[in-house]
Amino acid sequence: AVTDAQTAPKPVKALPDAQTVTEVKHWTDRLFSFRVTRPASLRFRSGEFVMIGLMQTDEKTGREKPLLRAYSIASPSWDEELEFYSIKVQDGPLTSRLQHIQVGDEIILRPKPVGTLVHDALLPGKRLWFFATGTGFAPFASLLREPQTYEDYDEVIITHTCREAGELTYGRELIESLKDDELLNEVIGEGFWKKIKYYPTTTREESEKMGRITDLMRSGEAFADLGVAPLNPDTDRAMICGNLAFNLELKEMFEEYGLVEGANSNPKHYVVEKAFLD
Ligand code: A2P
Repeated sequence: AVTDAQTAPKPVKALPDAQTVTEVKHWTDRLFSFRVTRPASLRFRSGEFVMIGLMQTDEKTGREKPLLRAYSIASPSWDEELEFYSIKVQDGPLTSRLQHIQVGDEIILRPKPVGTLVHDALLPGKRLWFFATGTGFAPFASLLREPQTYEDYDEVIITHTCREAGELTYGRELIESLKDDELLNEVIGEGFWKKIKYYPTTTREESEKMGRITDLMRSGEAFADLGVAPLNPDTDRAMICGNLAFNLELKEMFEEYGLVEGANSNPKHYVVEKAFLD
């Protein structure tokens, strides 16, 4: 006999590769972060990105199709959920809509993580630098919560340059929260967070430290403030994630320091990735 269970329609997800939003936080009128469920089969390395987005109606055909963009996963590889940190662009095709998502809504997430901001792409070193502008902080939010970061390095320096002070809040709160991170304290040992040096700067609003990190390094001010020597290929490794001009300028500076760009298949001294912009 046919039972109810066999005839009842199977629950279908409304979207392909749908994941459910579990938390949304708005940081400024230009920035927000959100968390979604994690597909059970999704494995990734801290620092990688995935394609995420929403369905949209094709104006010509009237059909629904996915609108996707590359987003760094801001949560670490061990986390049960996935976190993302995003800009809000009022006329941006995706973020004009994505900024309105609420808990319980669904987004599309293609479970194919890729990226170069991973530990595998760097040779062993003593000091690891993270250089971010704006939402380029996202992959480092993942790597700062990744035990390997502290197992592999004696010192971790994170610089974050933003236009305004409020844009630093997500990163600052994340770094402060590391002190109370049970997993990291257990795996790495209490006090692991003392390895972190945080260097936030703003360029268009008054804050404790003003200026572009590139200028502050060129003048030597950043190294003096941090109490460290300039980057040296023997000891220093670096990851860059920011806007295009920033990435290119830092790349040029690193080459002057003698650092060589690495890749997954060819680990070297530094790696670069462009932060997502709608
Ligand atoms: P600035 O305000 O001087 O342009 P954006 O929001 O445009 O992506 O910029 C984010 C931050 O990155 C801003 O503080 C901006 O400074 C800074 N920035 C932009 N270009 C560079 C660059 N080539 N080198 C260093 N910082 C940069």
